[in-house]
Amino acid sequence: MDIISFFEQIFKCKPTVKARAPGRVNLLGEHVDYNQGVVLPAAIDRQVSLAAAPTDDGLVTLNALDLQHQVAFRLSDLDRKIDVSGQPLPGWANYPAGVAWALQEAGLVLTGMNGVYSSDIPIGAGLSSSAAVEVAFATCWQALSGWKIDKLTLAQYCQRAENEYVGVSSGLMDQFASACGQEGHVLSFDTRSLEWSPLKLPAGTVIVIADSGIRRSLTKSGYNDRRAACEQAVVILKNYLPDIKSLRDVTSVELAAYSTLLPDEIEKRAEHVVKEIHRVEQAIIALQRGDACMFGGFMFASHKSLRELYEVSLPELDHLVEIARTLPGIYGARLTGAGFGGCTVNLVNERHVSTFMQRLSEGYRQVTGRNASVYLCQASRGAEARREI
Ligand code: GLA
Repeated sequence: MDIISFFEQIFKCKPTVKARAPGRVNLLGEHVDYNQGVVLPAAIDRQVSLAAAPTDDGLVTLNALDLQHQVAFRLSDLDRKIDVSGQPLPGWANYPAGVAWALQEAGLVLTGMNGVYSSDIPIGAGLSSSAAVEVAFATCWQALSGWKIDKLTLAQYCQRAENEYVGVSSGLMDQFASACGQEGHVLSFDTRSLEWSPLKLPAGTVIVIADSGIRRSLTKSGYNDRRAACEQAVVILKNYLPDIKSLRDVTSVELAAYSTLLPDEIEKRAEHVVKEIHRVEQAIIALQRGDACMFGGFMFASHKSLRELYEVSLPELDHLVEIARTLPGIYGARLTGAGFGGCTVNLVNERHVSTFMQRLSEGYRQVTGRNASVYLCQASRGAEARREI
């Protein structure tokens, strides 16, 4: 059943707003957004869809159609993370509740909501299913409540929800891409200055996503540990480089000079970040020249670094990258998102794409015994809401 019919069935009226927010794939610049680097994500053609109507009693009643689960909570009781009967909110409800909390913390007045949502973004696959939920709800509340904020600010409130309400210290990339995505474009987003611009992929290339089928949970994974390691590296390096504010300010030469002063693990994490930030700078030049081979080379180098230095890959992701490397039409492949499972992103010559997708699936099945879902991905528009009535 679709969200509109389901909404009408349980709430006995029509929704007044329909909102959508896409997931994202990151082409390059992994684990650099919380180190103030530049990232290169694109919003994808998979999304969260939400149908909603306002209520006047401050009550939010939500249905997660895919989970067949309903929750009700009060906008006046968000701090306690409980539902109307005093029970802790179920995990999935922390995302919309966190968004409401962050918007209210910012001084915005929210109306209660009856809502039904559903998503075709696989959960825990590194395609930002949770950021899409956050951005869809923020966009919907904006349409229901009658105030207007710019997309980047909206993304920042969603990030605050994720950091402070859900408890994952994520950067701003995912919420940014979901809010600001542009059709047919990769976004170059400077997470320090918050400036961004759309860039075209090299002519004749397409993005292919390969889902390893391995799922991860960001809260349980080592994501927060990785972020802490980067912060620790900055604290130690500041003794020698007092002007640095983040790893963005450290050059490869400086890192090499002071590397023996860092504990081994922290040194590896910092080396990935410093070199990845540099790779993105060079890769933007490759995109501007339309040089797919050069851009792809940086993607392979990024994967190697995520595997060996940042240690967030898994054998299944490595297999997907290594199989892709042998196939006609491939320019570059790497894991995308936080890692620890999920997907690889591949830049492929469009003339070879169907054979590429078929042979990647077959190769993966032969090596791992698992089925990968491999699909073509279109860079899409960011979140939007439409009044239905
Ligand atoms: C997750 C986080 C992002 C980013 C990536 C890694 O998707 O939500 O902020 O840090 O991991 O690049």
